[in-house]
Order: sequence, then C-alpha cells, then structure tokens
Amino acid sequence: MRKKLVIGNWKMNGGRATNARLLADVVSRVSGADGIDIAVCVPFPYLGNTSQHLFGCRVGLGAQDINEHESGAFTGEVSGSMLIDFDCHFVLVGHSERRDLFGETNERVAAKFEAALKSGLEPVLCVGETLAQRNAGQTNEVVFEQLQAVVDRVGVSRLQDGVIAYEPVWAIGTGETASPAQAQAVHLALRDYIRALDSQTANDVQILYGGSVKADNALSLFSEPDIDGGLIGGASLDADSFSAVCLSAKAAS
Ligand code: 13P
Repeated sequence: MRKKLVIGNWKMNGGRATNARLLADVVSRVSGADGIDIAVCVPFPYLGNTSQHLFGCRVGLGAQDINEHESGAFTGEVSGSMLIDFDCHFVLVGHSERRDLFGETNERVAAKFEAALKSGLEPVLCVGETLAQRNAGQTNEVVFEQLQAVVDRVGVSRLQDGVIAYEPVWAIGTGETASPAQAQAVHLALRDYIRALDSQTANDVQILYGGSVKADNALSLFSEPDIDGGLIGGASLDADSFSAVCLSAKAAS
C-alpha cells in the first residue's frame, strides 16, 4: 500500500517572519494527520531557518531545485550536498516553471534527478502538458517523454527512490483543476507505462497530483486509486488551507 504524501511548494514566496508563523501554524494543525507524509519545499535562503523550525517535527523539508554538478564554478547554483547539509529530504526537479521560464530540457531534468539520488535526496520529478498539448491529444506522449528521459538516465527501478508529480501546466496557479477523472487517467497511464518496464516499481512509486489543489477538491482527487497525494502551490502558503489538504490526504488513505 502506497503512503499518501503532501508536499507544499512555496515557490518564490515568504519572508522570515511570515515563514515562522506559517510553519508553527502548519505544524500544530497537521498533528492529527498521522499515517501520511508531509513536507514543504522552501526557497534556498530559508532552508536553514526552516530546518530549525521543523527540527523534531513530522513535517519534512525540501528544496525547489538542484544543480546537477557536485561543486565548482557554477555561480548562483546550489548542489545536492548543500541541500543535505540543511536537512533537506526532498528536492523538486523539472517543475514546469523551471522547464518553461528557465529552459530546462528533459535531459537536464534527468541529470538533476540523478544528482539528487547521488546526494541522498529524494527527487520529485514534475511532469505535465500544456493546454495546447492537451488539446492536441498529446498529453500522454508528453509526460511519457519527460519520464523516459529519467528512465534512460538512471534506470526504471530508481524511480522508486523518488516521487513523480503530475502537474498539468494549464492547472497550475489558474484555479482550474484537472477533474479527479482527468488526473486519474494520466496517473494510471504513467503507472501503466512504468508497469511495462517494471511492475514492482509501478506498484511502489508514489505519483502526486499538482495544479490548483485546494481544501475543497483535495479529498476527491486523493481518493482516486492512482493519486498518492499532492504537490501544493498557492494553498501551501496558508496554514488553514494546507492543513486541510493534508487532512484530506489522511481521510483518503
Ligand atoms: P498551484 O497549487 O498554485 O496551482 O501550484 C501547483 C504547483 O505548481 C506546485 O508545484
């Protein structure tokens, strides 16, 4: 049985004072959500402080990006060992904003996935199609290609050492969520694609849904058989909303 997992992606939001309040409120409000895993991916400058806030708590820590190199002359970049130094467990790779705004290719994302594994981090591989791709009937083709680049790089069984997040680009920050049936169809397609390569990995790998998940739609999404939790943007910036999403994951598990 796959455990439910809810990860907040704060994106480029926050500040020292607001983070402290948000983290304290989230930690107190998710105390009843036992049996699921919860984490927040915060901007790099706040990793140290957040790690201190979360010390001994059941909410884990993650980063939003990683450089594929171990160290060296890469001004402005952050390596996996640095993230481990700040107690990160997760790191997002290939978020659609990184792919779209910063030109990350499938191959670069795969290199980042591998770098995360080598550092002992759990990479969260984000995949998803644009609205134009969906309308052209290319959804599965796009997400399979994004996934296959990682499989080519690390081998299918290593997918189990990470997490997959299906985030349709048209549902991110738009208020327009994929319906539970639409999301489930892509999650099942991804799992079937993996099953054709390795059935154990297909059964074990967690596939999260992301894209306008809120308190009022989380339970129906997380109740789908192949949706193992969520990657939450906007709603993770509000303690009430994020904890309600976490409690929905517990209710669905
Ligand atoms: P929203 O929940 O704000 O749509 O963002 C989803 C997302 O991009 C999480 O990584």
